[in-house]
This record gives sequence, C-alpha cells and structure tokens, in this order.
Amino acid sequence: MPNDIFSGRNVKFIKTILINDKKDFNFPDFLIIILTVNNDAVIKRPSAVRLLDTIFDYLTRIARERSIDKILRLIADFGRDVVSADRCTVWLLDEKKNILWTRVAHGVDRIEIPRDKGIAGFVAKSGDPLIINDPYSDPRFDKDVDKQTGYRTYGIIALPIRNSSGKLIGVVQVLNSRTPLKKFTVKDQEHLVLAASYAGNQLEAVLLQEELDLTQKEIIFTLAETGEMRSKETGHHVKRVAEYSKLLGSLYGLNETDSLLLKTASPLHDIGKIAIPDAILLKNGPLTAEERSHMEEHTVLGYEMLKHSDRIVFKAAADIALHHHEKWDGTGYPVGLKGTDISLYGRITAIADVFDALASPRVYKQPWDKERIIETFRKDSGTHFDPDLTELFLDNFEDFWKICMQLKD
Ligand code: C2E
Ligand code: SIN
Ligand code: SIN
Ligand code: SIN
Ligand code: FE
Ligand code: FE
Repeated sequence: MPNDIFSGRNVKFIKTILINDKKDFNFPDFLIIILTVNNDAVIKRPSAVRLLDTIFDYLTRIARERSIDKILRLIADFGRDVVSADRCTVWLLDEKKNILWTRVAHGVDRIEIPRDKGIAGFVAKSGDPLIINDPYSDPRFDKDVDKQTGYRTYGIIALPIRNSSGKLIGVVQVLNSRTPLKKFTVKDQEHLVLAASYAGNQLEAVLLQEELDLTQKEIIFTLAETGEMRSKETGHHVKRVAEYSKLLGSLYGLNETDSLLLKTASPLHDIGKIAIPDAILLKNGPLTAEERSHMEEHTVLGYEMLKHSDRIVFKAAADIALHHHEKWDGTGYPVGLKGTDISLYGRITAIADVFDALASPRVYKQPWDKERIIETFRKDSGTHFDPDLTELFLDNFEDFWKICMQLKD
C-alpha cells in the first residue's frame, strides 16, 4: 500500500483492545486499554497542499456531524492525520466531576481519568501545549501505561481544546510520530493547534446541542408534571414565542447555537405564573393595583424556580423570566433596568411575548389586527422595546405574522 492516507477515504485501522466489559473504568483499567485510532502505515509528513486537503476534508465532515461520539472520533482521526501520528485521543473536561473523559470507538461507553492525571491532565491544568520527544526522561509521563500495554511511547504532543470564548473544554493528545525521523516538531504542534481550534468550535456546538436535546425532554417532562399551565393562553403561546425569539435572535446576528438556546429557553418566560392564583390569572377584565402587583411577581417567581439548575438552558430561562417585562426606558418591572442592562435574551423575548399577547385572544382582551400591532411597536420602540430589535422585528413583520398564523390555537 502506498502509505498515503490523504488520498481519498483510505484504510484506517482501528484497534481497540478491551480488557473486559466493565463500565466503570478506574485509572488502572484505563492504563491497560489502548485508545482510539491506530494507523499501521509508516507515512510521510504531509506536504502543505495535502495538509490543506486534509483539513478541508475533515472540516467538512466535522461540520456535518451531530453526534458527539462520531465527532470525537473524527477529531481523533483529524489530529492523528494532521501530524502523521500513530494515535490520537480526545479528552473532554467535565468540571463538575473533576475528570477528563473520552469515548473509545465501538461499544465502550466512556473512560474517565482524574483531571490532573498524566500528560493530558498536566495540559488541562496548565492550559499550555506540550511537546515531548523523550517521554522516558520526563517526570510528567506515566511509564506504567507503556509497561502494561506493551506499547512504546516515544513522542507526545498534547494541547488544550478551547471553545469560542477561550475556555478549556478538553485536551487532544497524539502519540508517536510516524515520520521517518520519529520526532514531533514544532510545525506538527502548530498544525495540531490549528486542527484543535477548528474542532473546538464545532465540538462546543455539538456538546451544547446534546445538552439542549436532553434539556428539552426535561422541560417537557417538568411542564407535564406540573400539570398544564392554567392560564388559557398557553395553547401554542409557548411554541410561538419560541419561534419568534429564534427568528429575532437570528435576524440580530446570533449564531445558530445561541439562537437555538434562546428558542429553547424563551418559552419558559412565564413559568412563574404557575404560582399566581386563578382568581387573578383568569380574571376576565382589568386587574386592581393589588392584583397587578401580585401578577408582576411572576417574573421573580420564575427566576427563583429556574435559577438553581446547572443546565445552561435553565440558566438562560431564569434570566429571561426575570427580564422579560423590563422596559428599555427603565419603567418596567421587577427591577426597572434600563437599555442594555436588560439582557439581550430578555429584550428579544419581550418583543416576542408582547407581539403574541397582542395578536392572540386573552381572557382579558380580543386579538388585535396587524395595523394596530405595528403601530403599537412603532410607538413603543425606544420606550418599552429595544429600538434596534424593534426595527428588525418591524422590517420582517410578515415573517413573524406567518408564524403566528401557522401556529394559531
Ligand atoms: P400576557 O397576557 O402574556 O401579556 C404580556 C404582555 O403583553 C403584557 O405584560 C403587556 O406588556 C402586553 N399586553 C398584553 N395585552 C395587552 C393589551 O391589551 N394592551 C397593551 N398595551 N399591552 C398588552 P404586562 O402588562 O406586564 O402583563 C403581564 C401579564 O399580566 C399578562 O401576560 C397577563 O397574564 C396579566 N395581565 C395583564 N393585564 C391583565 C388584565 O387586564 N387582566 C388579566 N386577567 N390579566 C392581565
Ligand atoms: C500519559 O498521559 O502520561 C500517558 C500517555 C499515554 O497515553 O501513553
Ligand atoms: C448573549 O448571549 O449575547 C446575551 C445573553 C443574555 O442576555 O442572557
Ligand atoms: C405596555 O406598555 O404595557 C405594553 C403594551 C405596549 O407595548 O403598548
Ligand atoms: Fe410575563
Ligand atoms: Fe407571556
């Protein structure tokens, strides 16, 4: 075989040596498992053009991928090919459990190590890339691994994977250069940094997506448990608000991940109404001052319900619950925040929520027609609503109206 892994989908040998079926690997177990991707060919260092081909090829595939397992595999392949290494492992940091974990190809759930263990742990801690061409004389290297696997490590590059805001989310580690020199170079390290930075962004999006999927189920479950929200308005109100928020977020320039987060979180803006008595919530007509102030507590109540969760969607939802009745000019509630002190998600959801309230029947009002709604938003831009967002909303009003008509109760 011409040892050229860069032309087409070439043969990839994956050797996963499993000791047993145990799900809970401890560190000694881990030591006797050889991880991830393995390529038996001896290969040349890629030329610049081939390297670009490789990068484009992997980026396309990684960008299409939605499953975390597959993306970890792809990044491992990517890392290995980009520096002509023998093996590559992608570790993800779990801050709550203080571990680094990885998934191995084919069937095994996952492997976990303490977050400060070994070379990967060292990099997770320091945040700096590491290149070691003589591991046996490096105290950070754990020789027991080789002793137990029979594998002979003669070179390592390990470096951090960061998300788009620079936070460390994992470590990519390659072992053993397969170039004739059998040495990793600084160039290799640079190439791997490049690969890790591309991969990091996509990895972040997929991790978030996985969390969103999980959370979505949790939300639906929670709402179902609570019994349907009692105010009659809820039918499709939450679905519509989700769609309007996502649309307005995208128009504003939020990336796919953030607008998806907003879409998932915004329907929970009124969750605090669960704690408002029927006599107020379902009152057929205007509220007294006292009832009104009770009603206004739904913002803080919702925030209090949601704020304890560690899930990113519930954190965003807590923020939205608290901010969705604040007004741009500072006359809103519960706090009277002004302008951009009101969170972006809160400002977006405010428009989505009021639009839906105006366009729909309520126990206390009839739906308004288009013209009256547009007029109201024009009038309240810069007082109630963020003027930039209102402009985007009004410029694209027909798209919002379409959603409203499609999801009519
Ligand atoms: P909601 O029905 O979801 O309304 C959300 C927001 O849409 C309102 O926030 C308000 O900013 C806007 N909105 C809704 N209907 C109208 C309207 O007819 N005219 C105008 N100018 N704006 C409207 P707000 O005022 O803070 O109210 C929060 C929640 O309090 C409402 O949520 C609703 O559940 C309740 N509520 C407000 N007013 C009344 C009322 O007169 N009777 C009853 N039973 N409930 C009310
Ligand atoms: C280590 O991280 O210390 C071990 C490197 C290896 O996987 O061989
Ligand atoms: C943002 O993600 O840009 C704002 C988040 C927020 O306002 O909650
Ligand atoms: C309000 O000011 O109470 C919200 C309704 C509107 O935007 O006119
Ligand atoms: Fe509300
Ligand atoms: Fe609402």
